[in-house]
Amino acid sequence: MTEPFTPPHRLPAWSVLENRANRLRSTRVAELFERDPSRFTTLSFGHRGLLLDLSKQSIDAPTLAALVDLAGQARLFDGIEALFAGEHLNFTEDRAALHMALRGACPAPPQDAATLAHSQQRMRAFAAALRSGTMTGASGKPIRLVVNLGIGGSDLGPRMTVQALLPAGPQATPEVRFVANIDRREFDEALADADPAGTLFIVSSKSFATAETLANAQAARSWLQAGLGAGCDPALHFAAVSNATDIAVAFGIAAERVFPLPEWVGGRYSVWSTIGLPLMIAIGESGFDAFLAGARAMDEHFRNAPPGENLPVLMGLTGLWNTDFLGIESLALLPYAHGLRSFAAWLQQLEMESNGKRCLRDGSASGVHTSPIVWGGVGTVGQHAFHQLFYQGTRRVALDFIVPVGADDACQRSLVENAFAQAAALMAGRSLDTALASLRAKGLAESEAARLAPHLACPGNQPSTTVLLPALDAFSLGQLMALYEHKVFVQGWIWGINSFDQYGVELGKEMARSLSAGARENHDASTAGLMAAAEAMRRP
Ligand code: F6P
Repeated sequence: MTEPFTPPHRLPAWSVLENRANRLRSTRVAELFERDPSRFTTLSFGHRGLLLDLSKQSIDAPTLAALVDLAGQARLFDGIEALFAGEHLNFTEDRAALHMALRGACPAPPQDAATLAHSQQRMRAFAAALRSGTMTGASGKPIRLVVNLGIGGSDLGPRMTVQALLPAGPQATPEVRFVANIDRREFDEALADADPAGTLFIVSSKSFATAETLANAQAARSWLQAGLGAGCDPALHFAAVSNATDIAVAFGIAAERVFPLPEWVGGRYSVWSTIGLPLMIAIGESGFDAFLAGARAMDEHFRNAPPGENLPVLMGLTGLWNTDFLGIESLALLPYAHGLRSFAAWLQQLEMESNGKRCLRDGSASGVHTSPIVWGGVGTVGQHAFHQLFYQGTRRVALDFIVPVGADDACQRSLVENAFAQAAALMAGRSLDTALASLRAKGLAESEAARLAPHLACPGNQPSTTVLLPALDAFSLGQLMALYEHKVFVQGWIWGINSFDQYGVELGKEMARSLSAGARENHDASTAGLMAAAEAMRRP
């Protein structure tokens, strides 16, 4: 994109939105419902079975229209076209961000198309052989356990999707486990009951240079060598997914078991690629195809739907409104599905590694806040832990309820109803008068009721979005994840940052390397002191 860039707060719609925020900041969402009882109809948006309800956000129709104007002034739709056309929107690394090509929503770069098709075909054959039980290890025993060694995008997406889509109960296919941390405890736990003769490791690393993953790959090799005994070749117990295929081969992984990953697929957008191998092993080719189809459906919608009906655009704009105009600093992800227990962790990387940045396209510093702090946890468990802060804490928090409706049984109904109840209660709150009345009704003396009532009052007015899915199936999950991916793009584009690099992370990696080189005098006094203290505590 060569056109001159204007930071968002210099666009005309920004001041319109600031004016609207001054009004809406003091207006309760419940009051907006009183004024306009049809809000649910006008502020809920559907796509292929998925429903996005924005009606509990602190937003009204004129504000939404002004946000759409902002998107227009920021030339968002040119940005979307440029994204799908494979322009090098990752301008610091001079790369495209074409994860949509993996789902068939746009073409891959012509020079990569054949390699891509070939690697996808090899991945499918590999997964099918594992699933059929015909793949054996060095001793001839079938592979029954697959352990993915990867971190960041090479772990979070595959881990989250396998948890989400694998039905409970014993599996006929190999079990899939994950090890990410360099903390040996995770490796030991994952392998505690494993038989080396029936275990296969996938070393999953786009760069094949990530310290944690390489350390775990070395640990896996030692574990196999010790367990398989002399004369058995551990190579039959390894596969790799990487862009650096030569380094993977040099590590000792057979070339035919190295599945390439194109450079234009960012780590946090990579589960759709060969990085998704653990998912394909877990749910099979047809499941994986449904997963891709769900994402593709969202891609097509994102590219073609008008802004006022475009789910990722509307979700992105609403989030930007919360961050920049209402001053809400965090976004809590509240999936009401045990299968989505790692969704917040996956989204943390997607949002915070993509948009946790301050340097704009023109090199200047952002004049507005960018990515919110993303956190969260699964419902109803979180209700008994951190929801208290939503009810009576001092901050406003933006909430995303993710609710797969699922089966018509009592527990599932209760789960869904709990999600709706939380969103409703957090919007309505409980006034001092209501608290007082409820205490009086319990027969408390007036003085006691007056003393306790402020402790029971809840301000409410926490803005929330609800995403309703018919079920937690592969298609819906693909749709949901692509919805969030594109929402992140919308926000990053309007903020004017590069959502596809992650230079900040590199600073910490450099520091870790320098610490492991051991030169204490090069570090600040606190770090040098901690290193000395740790050295004294270190057990032999
Ligand atoms: O350190 C951050 C990061 O580079 C992520 O962007 C990436 O997903 C992760 O590390 C793992 O990288 P790799 O797949 O190259 O091992």
